[in-house]
Amino acid sequence: KILILDFGSQVTQLIARRVREAHVYCEVHPCDVSSEWVRQYAADGRLKGVILSGSHASVYEVDDRAPDAVFELGVPVLGICYGMQTMAQQLGGRVEGSPVREFGYAEVRARGHTALLKDIADFHTPEGYGMLKVWMSHGDKVVELPPGFKLMASTDSCPIAGMADETRRFYGVQFHPEVTHTVQGRAILERFVLEICGARPDWIMRDHIEEAVAAIRAQVGDEEVLLGLSGGVDSSVAAALIHRAIGDQLTCVFVDHGLLRLHEGDMVMDMFAGKLHARVIRVDASDLFLRELAGVTDPERKRKIIGRLFVDVFKAEAEKLKAARPGSKGIQWLAQGTIYPDVIESGGAKSKKAVTIKSHHNVGGLPEQLGLKLLEPLRDLFKDEVRELGVALGLPHDMVYRHPFPGPGLGVRILGEVKKEYADLLRRADAIFIEELRSTIEPNSGKSWYDLVSQAFAVFLPVKSVGVMGDGRTYDYVVALRAVQTSDFMTADWAELPYSLLKRVSSRIINEVRGINRVTYDVSSKPPATIEWE
Ligand code: XMP
Repeated sequence: KILILDFGSQVTQLIARRVREAHVYCEVHPCDVSSEWVRQYAADGRLKGVILSGSHASVYEVDDRAPDAVFELGVPVLGICYGMQTMAQQLGGRVEGSPVREFGYAEVRARGHTALLKDIADFHTPEGYGMLKVWMSHGDKVVELPPGFKLMASTDSCPIAGMADETRRFYGVQFHPEVTHTVQGRAILERFVLEICGARPDWIMRDHIEEAVAAIRAQVGDEEVLLGLSGGVDSSVAAALIHRAIGDQLTCVFVDHGLLRLHEGDMVMDMFAGKLHARVIRVDASDLFLRELAGVTDPERKRKIIGRLFVDVFKAEAEKLKAARPGSKGIQWLAQGTIYPDVIESGGAKSKKAVTIKSHHNVGGLPEQLGLKLLEPLRDLFKDEVRELGVALGLPHDMVYRHPFPGPGLGVRILGEVKKEYADLLRRADAIFIEELRSTIEPNSGKSWYDLVSQAFAVFLPVKSVGVMGDGRTYDYVVALRAVQTSDFMTADWAELPYSLLKRVSSRIINEVRGINRVTYDVSSKPPATIEWE
């Protein structure tokens, strides 16, 4: 196994991710564990190497050091950014603060003579230097190598951008190999864990399930857990994992706000109650939601109302469940499908030190209000790892690889006032669109158009237009189809779906959904348009 000591960088978990991608088991622990702890940790002989992460702070702002034992275990150590600086300082080198921050893309001259960087380069200079395209983010820098170290990499503004003591197998890099902007980053980290540390690449998702199950059991003991199931990927995978760990000690509450996709509620119940035999309570609150939304047209007000009602309904259900078994210890935990990007966004990264960027709806609030402890078994995982875990837990591929669906559901896909009639029409149109996307294969990739786009849905426009059907004139509603491709949902391009596909979808919607006589395709990119229409 590999030990990653976290000095509070926003991207520490990316190091873990890269190590896991190399199929090597690793754990992230805070940098302030004691030397005694480290020695204990290594006592079983499984520890093959240590990685010291970066930090958002400067060595002059904080006095975080690696526990000295790290350098006495005889295993390889890789320091990244702050991790390299503290390594330099602790082993007798010198670090200097610098008024200019180097931030972003940089090209690093790599000396190919170290085991870490040998034969790894993006291109070569005429003089034969291997060059690496990397991502840097630092102010301080190492200005004097510690005894025993040699120079491994440099840039014009950072003469010591990498250092190595190959006898002790200690390496430091000033740049961040864990981020994808560092083109060879993955190769460098793989080289470190597999070749230099000699860790075995035998870690797979199935092992993660066992570890996670054991951790949940240890955390929860004989107490009971409540989970809000939305039908989305994260809460579904969390539910399946926790159910695997503690079975009937888990109760899921599925709040149906009446703004779900066609048959979604039934599918969720069928999956969790039917196939997994989990305890799931379905709360049909659609009347309440529609009542409270009547007459409301402003998108933000709609969102607020839906969010508030959701919390109210969930809380009421939780209170009922807590009161239901007065004799037993009752429900003590609230489980959430928080994943690592949520943790980074909300600034709640495990390290107490990462800085807050923005607060997120998934994290915080409810557990305190309900007097429950928080259980978040997915908080170290990235979305694609969550999906892989879901499949390994036996959830259907289609469910796990679904497009994202917003919390307010169809509430933000019906423009203006939400009415049941509109929701019913939209659900059917949307289902036809999704069905055709799933069944149409793009020949070059062999993938379905559903898998080729990042998100696709229909939007209901409460305007009527004239049409002709048979011998009669129609005067009916319009739907817009939206399909986008994006990697991060911050920017997105509209998808160039084949005309034949659009044609089929349009004619099916108009023929099969009485009440809709016109279909349009949204050809706006984000920005300036957003993905959702509201
Ligand atoms: P926009 O429309 O802002 O959407 O381009 C970006 C992504 O966020 C989703 N989205 C939401 N998700 N609650 C959510 O849980 C919301 O209120 C909400 N609004 C947008 C949207 O579906 C897209 O994936």
